Amino acid sequence: MDALNALLTRNSASKLIDPAPAKGELQQIISAALRSPDHARLRPWRFLLIEGQAREALGTLFAEATKRAKTGTSPEILQKASSKSQRAPLIVVVIASTAAHPKVPHLEQQLSAGCAAQNILLAAHALGYAGIWRTGAMAYHQIVRDGLGLASNEEITGFIYLGTMSGEPKVIPELNPDHFATYWTPSS
Ligand SMILES: Cc1cc2nc3c(=O)[nH]c(=O)nc-3n(C[C@H](O)[C@H](O)[C@H](O)COP(=O)(O)O)c2cc1C
Repeated sequence: MDALNALLTRNSASKLIDPAPAKGELQQIISAALRSPDHARLRPWRFLLIEGQAREALGTLFAEATKRAKTGTSPEILQKASSKSQRAPLIVVVIASTAAHPKVPHLEQQLSAGCAAQNILLAAHALGYAGIWRTGAMAYHQIVRDGLGLASNEEITGFIYLGTMSGEPKVIPELNPDHFATYWTPSS
Protein backbone atom coordinates (compact mmCIF):
# COMPACT_ATOMS: atom_id res chain seq x y z
CA MET A 1 0.00 0.00 0.00
CA ASP A 2 1.46 3.37 -0.90
CA ALA A 3 1.71 6.04 1.74
CA LEU A 4 -1.06 8.30 0.44
CA ASN A 5 -3.45 5.40 0.11
CA ALA A 6 -2.68 4.36 3.68
CA LEU A 7 -3.32 7.90 4.90
CA LEU A 8 -6.62 8.19 3.05
CA THR A 9 -8.01 4.77 3.92
CA ARG A 10 -6.97 4.27 7.56
CA ASN A 11 -10.14 3.47 9.42
CA SER A 12 -10.38 2.88 13.16
CA ALA A 13 -12.10 -0.32 14.18
CA SER A 14 -13.51 -1.02 17.61
CA LYS A 15 -13.92 -4.79 17.05
CA LEU A 16 -10.49 -6.33 16.70
CA ILE A 17 -9.73 -10.01 16.63
CA ASP A 18 -6.76 -12.33 16.03
CA PRO A 19 -4.34 -12.27 14.36
CA ALA A 20 -2.39 -9.36 15.74
CA PRO A 21 0.72 -8.20 13.91
CA ALA A 22 3.43 -10.85 14.15
CA LYS A 23 6.75 -10.09 15.85
CA GLY A 24 8.54 -8.99 12.66
CA GLU A 25 5.62 -6.81 11.68
CA LEU A 26 5.51 -5.30 15.13
CA GLN A 27 9.17 -4.38 14.72
CA GLN A 28 8.23 -2.52 11.53
CA ILE A 29 5.32 -0.83 13.26
CA ILE A 30 7.50 0.37 16.14
CA SER A 31 10.20 1.43 13.66
CA ALA A 32 7.54 3.56 11.95
CA ALA A 33 6.68 5.11 15.32
CA LEU A 34 10.34 5.97 15.78
CA ARG A 35 10.24 7.98 12.53
CA SER A 36 7.91 10.53 14.06
CA PRO A 37 8.93 14.17 13.89
CA ASP A 38 11.01 14.81 16.98
CA HIS A 39 12.42 18.25 17.78
CA ALA A 40 16.03 17.92 19.01
CA ARG A 41 15.82 14.15 18.73
CA LEU A 42 14.73 13.77 22.30
CA ARG A 43 12.92 10.48 21.65
CA PRO A 44 10.21 11.56 24.09
CA TRP A 45 8.31 8.28 24.01
CA ARG A 46 8.30 4.64 24.97
CA PHE A 47 5.94 1.81 24.19
CA LEU A 48 4.53 -1.01 26.30
CA LEU A 49 3.36 -4.07 24.38
CA ILE A 50 0.52 -5.88 26.09
CA GLU A 51 -0.71 -9.19 24.76
CA GLY A 52 -1.94 -12.60 25.96
CA GLN A 53 -2.18 -12.99 29.74
CA ALA A 54 -0.82 -9.50 30.35
CA ARG A 55 -4.13 -8.15 29.05
CA GLU A 56 -5.86 -9.73 32.06
CA ALA A 57 -3.53 -7.89 34.41
CA LEU A 58 -4.32 -4.65 32.56
CA GLY A 59 -8.01 -5.47 32.96
CA THR A 60 -7.48 -5.87 36.70
CA LEU A 61 -5.91 -2.41 36.79
CA PHE A 62 -8.88 -0.99 34.87
CA ALA A 63 -11.29 -2.59 37.35
CA GLU A 64 -9.33 -1.34 40.38
CA ALA A 65 -9.18 2.17 38.92
CA THR A 66 -12.92 2.14 38.19
CA LYS A 67 -13.66 0.94 41.72
CA ARG A 68 -11.54 3.75 43.17
CA ALA A 69 -13.01 6.40 40.88
CA LYS A 70 -16.66 5.66 41.57
CA THR A 71 -18.49 4.77 44.74
CA GLY A 72 -20.87 1.81 44.76
CA THR A 73 -19.63 0.13 41.60
CA SER A 74 -21.48 -3.09 40.83
CA PRO A 75 -19.68 -6.32 39.86
CA GLU A 76 -21.12 -5.82 36.35
CA ILE A 77 -19.49 -2.41 36.03
CA LEU A 78 -16.18 -3.78 37.27
CA GLN A 79 -16.43 -6.72 34.87
CA LYS A 80 -17.12 -4.32 32.01
CA ALA A 81 -14.10 -2.19 32.95
CA SER A 82 -11.90 -5.26 33.17
CA SER A 83 -13.05 -6.67 29.83
CA LYS A 84 -11.92 -3.53 28.00
CA SER A 85 -8.39 -4.89 27.92
CA GLN A 86 -9.67 -7.83 25.86
CA ARG A 87 -10.94 -5.66 23.00
CA ALA A 88 -7.93 -6.52 20.84
CA PRO A 89 -5.22 -9.17 20.79
CA LEU A 90 -2.50 -6.54 21.17
CA ILE A 91 -2.37 -3.20 22.93
CA VAL A 92 0.48 -0.77 22.45
CA VAL A 93 0.54 1.76 25.25
CA VAL A 94 2.18 4.90 23.88
CA ILE A 95 3.83 6.83 26.68
CA ALA A 96 5.12 10.37 26.33
CA SER A 97 8.29 10.72 28.41
CA THR A 98 8.99 14.40 28.52
CA ALA A 99 11.83 16.38 30.03
CA ALA A 100 12.58 20.06 30.48
CA HIS A 101 14.49 21.37 27.47
CA PRO A 102 15.55 24.93 26.65
CA LYS A 103 14.09 24.83 23.12
CA VAL A 104 11.49 22.07 23.14
CA PRO A 105 8.45 22.65 25.37
CA HIS A 106 6.67 19.68 26.93
CA LEU A 107 3.78 20.17 24.51
CA GLU A 108 6.03 19.60 21.50
CA GLN A 109 7.33 16.41 23.08
CA GLN A 110 3.77 15.21 23.71
CA LEU A 111 2.91 15.99 20.09
CA SER A 112 5.84 13.82 18.98
CA ALA A 113 4.43 10.96 21.04
CA GLY A 114 1.05 11.61 19.38
CA CYS A 115 2.69 11.34 15.97
CA ALA A 116 4.23 8.06 17.08
CA ALA A 117 0.76 6.78 17.97
CA GLN A 118 -0.55 7.80 14.55
CA ASN A 119 2.42 6.15 12.82
CA ILE A 120 1.61 2.95 14.68
CA LEU A 121 -1.97 3.04 13.38
CA LEU A 122 -0.84 3.82 9.84
CA ALA A 123 1.88 1.17 9.73
CA ALA A 124 -0.53 -1.44 11.10
CA HIS A 125 -3.07 -0.44 8.47
CA ALA A 126 -0.46 -0.62 5.69
CA LEU A 127 0.35 -4.16 6.82
CA GLY A 128 -3.32 -5.16 6.59
CA TYR A 129 -4.25 -4.83 10.27
CA ALA A 130 -6.58 -2.42 11.99
CA GLY A 131 -6.57 -0.50 15.22
CA ILE A 132 -8.05 2.21 17.34
CA TRP A 133 -6.53 4.87 19.58
CA ARG A 134 -8.27 5.05 22.94
CA THR A 135 -7.70 7.00 26.11
CA GLY A 136 -10.67 7.56 28.41
CA ALA A 137 -10.45 7.94 32.17
CA MET A 138 -8.17 4.89 32.42
CA ALA A 139 -5.35 6.72 30.63
CA TYR A 140 -5.21 9.29 33.41
CA HIS A 141 -5.94 7.26 36.54
CA GLN A 142 -3.11 6.97 39.06
CA ILE A 143 -3.76 3.26 39.63
CA VAL A 144 -3.26 2.56 35.94
CA ARG A 145 -0.24 4.86 35.77
CA ASP A 146 1.38 3.14 38.77
CA GLY A 147 0.48 -0.34 37.57
CA LEU A 148 2.10 0.33 34.20
CA GLY A 149 5.16 1.84 35.85
CA LEU A 150 4.87 5.42 34.64
CA ALA A 151 7.26 7.96 36.09
CA SER A 152 6.10 11.42 37.14
CA ASN A 153 7.36 12.94 33.86
CA GLU A 154 5.31 10.50 31.79
CA GLU A 155 1.78 10.53 30.37
CA ILE A 156 -0.22 7.89 28.56
CA THR A 157 -0.68 9.27 25.05
CA GLY A 158 -2.96 6.45 24.15
CA PHE A 159 -3.83 2.80 24.27
CA ILE A 160 -3.46 1.66 20.66
CA TYR A 161 -5.58 -1.44 20.26
CA LEU A 162 -4.37 -3.54 17.32
CA GLY A 163 -5.57 -6.65 15.57
CA THR A 164 -7.62 -7.71 12.59
CA MET A 165 -10.83 -5.91 11.74
CA SER A 166 -13.94 -7.94 12.50
CA GLY A 167 -16.86 -7.23 10.21
CA GLU A 168 -17.19 -4.43 7.70
CA PRO A 169 -15.21 -1.21 7.95
CA LYS A 170 -17.27 1.81 8.90
CA VAL A 171 -17.98 4.44 6.27
CA ILE A 172 -15.30 7.09 6.24
CA PRO A 173 -16.89 10.54 6.28
CA GLU A 174 -16.16 12.65 3.20
CA LEU A 175 -14.78 15.97 4.27
CA ASN A 176 -14.05 18.83 1.92
CA PRO A 177 -10.44 20.00 2.40
CA ASP A 178 -11.48 23.50 1.31
CA HIS A 179 -13.63 23.76 4.42
CA PHE A 180 -10.59 23.32 6.62
CA ALA A 181 -7.69 24.85 4.68
CA THR A 182 -7.72 28.40 3.40
CA TYR A 183 -5.01 30.60 1.99
CA TRP A 184 -4.02 33.30 4.40
CA THR A 185 -4.05 36.71 2.83
CA PRO A 186 -2.02 39.14 4.87
CA SER A 187 -3.58 42.55 5.40
CA SER A 188 -1.40 45.27 3.88
C1 LIG B 1 -6.08 11.23 21.78
C2 LIG B 1 -7.27 10.42 21.31
C3 LIG B 1 -8.00 9.70 22.22
C4 LIG B 1 -9.11 8.96 21.81
N1 LIG B 1 -9.82 8.23 22.73
C5 LIG B 1 -10.87 7.51 22.34
C6 LIG B 1 -11.58 6.70 23.27
O1 LIG B 1 -11.23 6.63 24.45
N2 LIG B 1 -12.64 6.00 22.83
C7 LIG B 1 -13.04 6.05 21.51
O2 LIG B 1 -14.01 5.39 21.16
N3 LIG B 1 -12.38 6.79 20.60
C8 LIG B 1 -11.30 7.51 20.98
N4 LIG B 1 -10.62 8.25 20.06
C9 LIG B 1 -11.12 8.33 18.66
C10 LIG B 1 -10.79 7.10 17.83
O3 LIG B 1 -9.42 6.75 17.96
C11 LIG B 1 -11.07 7.32 16.33
O4 LIG B 1 -10.29 8.36 15.84
C12 LIG B 1 -12.55 7.62 16.07
O5 LIG B 1 -13.30 6.48 16.42
C13 LIG B 1 -12.84 7.99 14.60
O6 LIG B 1 -12.43 6.96 13.73
P1 LIG B 1 -11.39 7.25 12.56
O7 LIG B 1 -10.02 7.39 13.25
O8 LIG B 1 -11.44 6.05 11.68
O9 LIG B 1 -11.81 8.50 11.89
C14 LIG B 1 -9.48 8.96 20.44
C15 LIG B 1 -8.70 9.67 19.51
C16 LIG B 1 -7.62 10.41 19.93
C17 LIG B 1 -6.78 11.16 18.93
